[in-house]
Amino acid sequence: MLKQSEVASDTYRHGNDHLIELRDVVKIFATAAGSFTALKSVSIEVDRGEFVAVIGKSGSGKSTLINMITGIDRPTSGQILVGDTAVHTLSEGRMAVWRGQNLGIIFQFFQLLPTLSVVENVILPMDFRRKFAPRERRRRAMELLDQVEMSEHANKLPAAISGGQQQRVAIARALANDPPILVADEPTGNLDSRTAEAVFRLFESLVAQGKTILMVTHDSDLARRATRSLLVHDGEVVNEYIMRALPRLGFEQLAWVQSHVEVRHYATGQPIIQAGDHSDGFYIITDGEVEVLLPQPDSPDMLVDRLNSGQFFGELGLLNGRHRRATVRAAGSNVAVAILDPNEFFELLNSSEATRREIDHIARLRARQQEPSYG
Ligand SMILES: Nc1ncnc2c1ncn2[C@@H]1O[C@H](COP(=O)(O)OP(=O)(O)OP(=O)(O)O)[C@@H](O)[C@H]1O
Ligand SMILES: [Mg+2]
Repeated sequence: MLKQSEVASDTYRHGNDHLIELRDVVKIFATAAGSFTALKSVSIEVDRGEFVAVIGKSGSGKSTLINMITGIDRPTSGQILVGDTAVHTLSEGRMAVWRGQNLGIIFQFFQLLPTLSVVENVILPMDFRRKFAPRERRRRAMELLDQVEMSEHANKLPAAISGGQQQRVAIARALANDPPILVADEPTGNLDSRTAEAVFRLFESLVAQGKTILMVTHDSDLARRATRSLLVHDGEVVNEYIMRALPRLGFEQLAWVQSHVEVRHYATGQPIIQAGDHSDGFYIITDGEVEVLLPQPDSPDMLVDRLNSGQFFGELGLLNGRHRRATVRAAGSNVAVAILDPNEFFELLNSSEATRREIDHIARLRARQQEPSYG
């Protein structure tokens, strides 16, 4: 097993808050049919120790996004920062060295060298990198194979083991030089569900040991078990908090919401909706915290709730066709909300029965618990 102290390497001190950060990344491919924008100004942040699932339809841009982080492909514009390194500025030579030090990459089709044995496949990246002394390498390879429960197959050729076993070897190989980050593009895409589960558990144990993992997957059940999901749609990353607020929506519906919301920002104490006003929209908090206040006869407003990113408000007034009964104001200095207008809100409810039921349920709880209640 790897020790925690081995995971936190000295060469890997990051100067910014996020281990991985993409800023306004655009990727345009030149094709025979003209230029094609595969990523449209993508900005994401991943912190150390996170397990992030990258999901979305085929052709949405998941691999393109991942390839920006690994440096396998370069952005047309924008910045890719991994730890202290501005990956988009590295020369090819520096890129290869950097990648070897910092990333373990796992593909859908394993890509083990067919003429090398299992253990030799795991030793090979150590021979390139020379981080571990030559006599240590075999022992370390065997330890890694043990971690993925493949040590008894160490001397077989890849062709002699199953797909799931090959993928476990590929993971051991990705760990060979002890990189802080693992990037996997559909690592379970070619495996049956039981084997996929075993590989996923292995990822969970690596995260528990301090690794940061980005995993592209088509399997939404597996994605739900990661710490976070990034949904890619048509070259854009759908706001995570919109996803969290509306977990019953499918990919297409989430993308629809993302393209219809109006985003507004508020400073500390600024009211977002006011008791007495006409109900004008459905609000999803995408940054910061808000306070919900009820007007009281002859005394100051009463604080009844606090809501955070990924929660919504404003549904009650729309559903009841009434005026706002509560005031909601920004509790921090940079509160952002994504707003659907009433027509869009009802279109959303009509498009997803499960979402309608869930929003109805929350509205009823809020109305019952705190009558009079939220706008
Ligand atoms: N080298 C390339 N040249 C031209 N177009 C490309 C290139 N690579 C990707 N694309 C296009 O960019 C879009 C996104 O591709 P990408 O491979 O990132 O999708 P994906 O989400 O990984 O799909 P899948 O789930 O099928 O793997 C697609 O429309 C694809 O055709
Ligand atoms: Mg792909």
